[in-house]
Order: sequence, then structure tokens, then C-alpha cells
Amino acid sequence: MRRDMVHPGAGELRYEIREIVSFARELSRWNIPIVWENIGDPVKKGEAIEGWIKDIVRNRVMDDLSYAYSDTEGVRETRAFLAGLANQRSISNPIGAMANPCEPLGADDIIFFNGLGDAVAKVFGFLKREARVLGPSPAYSTLSSAEAAHSGYKHLTYRLDPERDWMPDLEDVEYKVKYNDAIAGLLFINPDNPTGAVYPVEILKEFVRIAKTYGLFIIADETYANIVFPGTKTAALSQVVGDVPALALRSISKEVPWPGARSGWIEVYNRHSDPQFERYVQSLVDAKRLEVCATTLPQLCIPEIMSDSRYPDHLERRARMFEGRAQEAADAFAGRGGLKLIPPRGALYATALFDPERFFDGREQSRTLPVKDRSLADFITRRTEGLAPDKRFVYWLLAATGICVVPLSGFVSELPGFRFTLLEQDDEKRRWIYRTLAEAAEAYLES
Ligand SMILES: Cc1ncc(COP(=O)(O)O)c(C=O)c1O
Repeated sequence: MRRDMVHPGAGELRYEIREIVSFARELSRWNIPIVWENIGDPVKKGEAIEGWIKDIVRNRVMDDLSYAYSDTEGVRETRAFLAGLANQRSISNPIGAMANPCEPLGADDIIFFNGLGDAVAKVFGFLKREARVLGPSPAYSTLSSAEAAHSGYKHLTYRLDPERDWMPDLEDVEYKVKYNDAIAGLLFINPDNPTGAVYPVEILKEFVRIAKTYGLFIIADETYANIVFPGTKTAALSQVVGDVPALALRSISKEVPWPGARSGWIEVYNRHSDPQFERYVQSLVDAKRLEVCATTLPQLCIPEIMSDSRYPDHLERRARMFEGRAQEAADAFAGRGGLKLIPPRGALYATALFDPERFFDGREQSRTLPVKDRSLADFITRRTEGLAPDKRFVYWLLAATGICVVPLSGFVSELPGFRFTLLEQDDEKRRWIYRTLAEAAEAYLES
């Protein structure tokens, strides 16, 4: 090529959650059945879609308009419906009336995308290269990769602290913001992927305070906002944002669940509070316009599904179900030397940590697990050369047990550990998965 044609951020596009799949498939030579614990797809893991939700979708499929394009920003009635929900949330504010309340949302403050994956690509892709967004570590890879790729540098992160139930280290946030004026935005995920942490209102208010003090905008990924375990208190960003410019990212992928719909949206708060922010939001719409619009059918179904009297019960039942599974996972890891699992309080995942002192004791490149035969052991030994130490564990785990999890190093983290899901439907198999993961992690540490 006469010109260098590779984007400077090309090397930052990593999605460990799926990259591990091609390695797992290579193990078919040894007839190892794989248990997929890497991807957060409730439907792939066998969750049945509620009959009444299928009825709504079936009826909509019979409507010719569901085969049409929609407005670039999305179906207007659906956007008005979602703006109304956001406004209701702000009224039922857990911290009482705010001195500078958020501008009420209208339909135009909701912008649809083909899943949040698409939204994230636009949010970072159309941010000025020099404007950085500070995000959590561990980080959900789609967000961290997109931010890193847009800037051409490693993703900038603040610490989620495992010693404090994975709460954000707000001193770290403020310190980094104060001394790096390239930071234009703050990102958090609530409930969080991969940790399952759910942030109390006080933490969310602190993010808002920091953003306001330093003139930043906020991105809140609220994919799991409706999967908060019973008794856990939190708030939506719209309830605490005040007059700070912000985006909340929401989706039907995990809560309906309908990840194959590829349907998610951005809620824009305080669009008119700052001319730069307003121009930036307009660029997101303009970018979407080049693609015409997001898929119409799921958008048409959203108001009917979400306003159905069965929807709140559906959400509550699932939150209770995932809470029970989180407890099973915590029980399986409890009392195991060198391992820690902070029980998640929301979302669909649990993250297990190796004690860093024991893990990084000089043997991190030589540990193994017992596998079927010599040829498999040789293959894994070859394939794990030079890998991140927790990724080595994940490869050995796959070969020894067939369980496919994601190393924490794939989530922009220096803490050694791995993420698995709370999605297995078969009760016996799920308990076997959690027990096997805990036993294998302990055996690996001691090998
Ligand atoms: C935190 C978070 N944000 C965004 C997404 C992407 O969701 P979507 O299916 O809407 O693209 C996911 C998917 O796992 C996620 O965990």
C-alpha cells in the first residue's frame, strides 16, 4: 500500500469475551464439550421468553409498518414513551427535589441504535480524538476498547476497589480528572459488568459533583438498570444528574431479554446546557442518519412490553432468580484459600479474584491443571506461552473442565481473576459449574 491505511486505534480493539471462543473450538480435537460461561446472552443459555412477550412480538410482525424504516432517531411514539419513563423516574427522585433539576426529556432526547454496541461505537467514534473519557477498571470491553480506539492510546481508568465491594475509588477519579485536562467525560456502569456491583446514590452523586466541578459530561451505562437484586438501593442517573450534561445507555438485550433484537437507546440529559455538548449530541444523530435508522420491529414492541402489567413482576422474578444464583456462586467460593468472590448485587455476572500475592509468587507462568492426555497438555503448554497469567488459567481451565470463562485481564484489569455468568438454567449443572470453577481455581493456585 502506498499509504499507511491502518487506524491508529486499530490495536486497541479487543473483545476477550468472544476471542476466547476460537480457542475453545480448537479443543474439539479432544472431544471436550464446552460449557459457555463467557457471553451474557440469557437466551443462548436457555432462558425461555415469556409467552405474553412473544405474543406482542408476533402481533407486531403482522403489522407491515414493522418492516419499514423508522425515523433516524427511532420510532417517535416509542421515544416519547421512553422520555416519559425517564421523566417519571426523575419525579420519584430518591434524594428529593434537586436545586438544579434535569431538563425534562422530550422524544428528541431519546436516540435509538442497533444495540448499545452500535451506540458505543458512535459515542466514542464522534468524540474529538483528544477528548478522553475516564472509565472503570475492570472495564466492560466494548466501552474500554471503543474509548481507546478513538484516542489511539490505552483506555484511561479509575479503580474499582475489591476491598470495598468493587465500589469506585472516587479519590482516584478526582485525582485523575484534576491532573489530566484531556479528560472530558466520566463513565460508569451501574449495575456493573463484570463485577455485579451496584452503586449507592451517594456514589452516583459524587460522580455528578466531580463532573460539575471540572466541567465534564457523564456517560452512564444502564444496560442492567432493571436487574438490581432485592433490597439493594441505587438510582438511575436521571434521578441524580441535576444540570450536568450526560448520556444514559439503555437496552432491551438483557431485561426482556432480547439481545438478538440489537436494539438500544441513548437518553440525553441537559442537551441544551452546553453548546459543545449539544453539537456533539447532534453529531451522534447525524452519524446515525448516514445509516438511515435502527431496526424498527423491536422499537415498536417496547412500549407494549414495558407498559404491560406483567412487566414489573417479570423484572422482579428475574432479579430474585439471579440473586439466588449469585448466592450459589458465593457459597461455592467461600472459604477457599487464595480466592475471593464478592457477591454481585445486580446484572448477570460474578467475578472471582485470585489473591494477587499468592498468584504472582513467581509460578504464574508454570501452573497447570490435570488434563486428559499428554497431547492436550503439550498443546495447552504451547498455546499459553507469553499469555497474561489469568488468561493462562482460563486456557488450562477450558482444557481440564470444558468451562469457558473470561480472564479479568480482558477487562482492562491488573487484578488476576475471571468472570462467569449467572445464566445457566439447569440448576444441577449450574451448581456443578460453580463448584468446579472454585475447585479448579484453588487447585491451579496450589499446583
Ligand atoms: C455493560 C454493557 N453495555 C452494553 C452492552 C451491549 O448491549 P447491546 O446488546 O445493547 O449491544 C453490554 C452487553 O453485554 C453490556 O454488558
